Amino acid sequence: IKKIGVLTSGGDSPGMNAAIRAVVRTALYYDLEVVGIRRGYEGAVNGEFIEMDRKSVANIIQRGGTILKTARSKSFQTKEGRQKAYEQLKSKEIDALVVIGGDGTFTGATVFGEEFDLPIIGLPGTIDNDLFGTDFTIGYDTAINTAVDAVDKIRDTAESHDRVFIVEVMGRDSGLIALRSGIGVGAEAIMIPESKTGVEHLIHRLEVGRKDKSSKIIMVAEGDDAGGAFKLGDIIKEKFPHYDTRVSILGHIQRGGKPTCMDRVLASRLGVAAVEGLLEGRKAEMAGLIHGKIVFTPLDHAIKHNQEVNQSLLKIVEILSL
Ligand code: F6P
Repeated sequence: IKKIGVLTSGGDSPGMNAAIRAVVRTALYYDLEVVGIRRGYEGAVNGEFIEMDRKSVANIIQRGGTILKTARSKSFQTKEGRQKAYEQLKSKEIDALVVIGGDGTFTGATVFGEEFDLPIIGLPGTIDNDLFGTDFTIGYDTAINTAVDAVDKIRDTAESHDRVFIVEVMGRDSGLIALRSGIGVGAEAIMIPESKTGVEHLIHRLEVGRKDKSSKIIMVAEGDDAGGAFKLGDIIKEKFPHYDTRVSILGHIQRGGKPTCMDRVLASRLGVAAVEGLLEGRKAEMAGLIHGKIVFTPLDHAIKHNQEVNQSLLKIVEILSL
């Protein structure tokens, strides 16, 4: 391997810049050239390349978003698009890739790597924490801290008005943001797709719960079976007309902002591991961190097996929110 391409793809996450910096500087450390590919796979198809040196990644470790920009590419999903991307990479003499993103990114990388026998290492960059093969994804820690900060503020006004707030956090297919941030804010209930306890259970808990508590926070994951915060809000309003109920959707605020130190260190460690993995001859694997150790997992395995929800965390909510 002489020249590595690096790209970010799919939804951005805080810490992606720290990961880009680590990949670029590790490549240079090992005397490899490194090229930045803008706008994810879309930039590969269109040949949007930029030379990266030590200075190009200076002063970015603390910045949210991604300096390389990102996209969800439609053309890369076609055989012709991927062929074009391969030709662009070849003309630039890029002989390996580091792709930073989530499940869509890894699906693309698996197909592309197989079709053209190109070594690709994936780094888990998503706020959702929904990849198998790493305890935490880059951006998750920042996102849950952003959510906690926002809900602490909502709690102030909820308490002042004696209100029930349904707060929706991100996670299309995963409740892991809702689960941890919900514990962090002392939520009275958490609704996530993985818990399968459903709206009936929530209603029961509200019925038997403390009557003297003036405010209640119900955290709901975007992907929960209840069908979103507004729908849930309507159900609560109907069942408990005496509650003053409000709905708040945190939205994309969770994707931005300065990465926490945890995310910066995780991104730095995984960025180094990605380049070293390529030099060891690895391909089609994701670098992750499990119990503090670098672990490589086949890309298709990382996406097909979602992170399991830690059942003891769900039990904590039941015990502590009484
Ligand atoms: O995968 C990250 C994520 O933020 C999900 O939690 C959310 O469902 C989705 O991306 C939103 O995507 P977009 O910004 O493209 O609407």
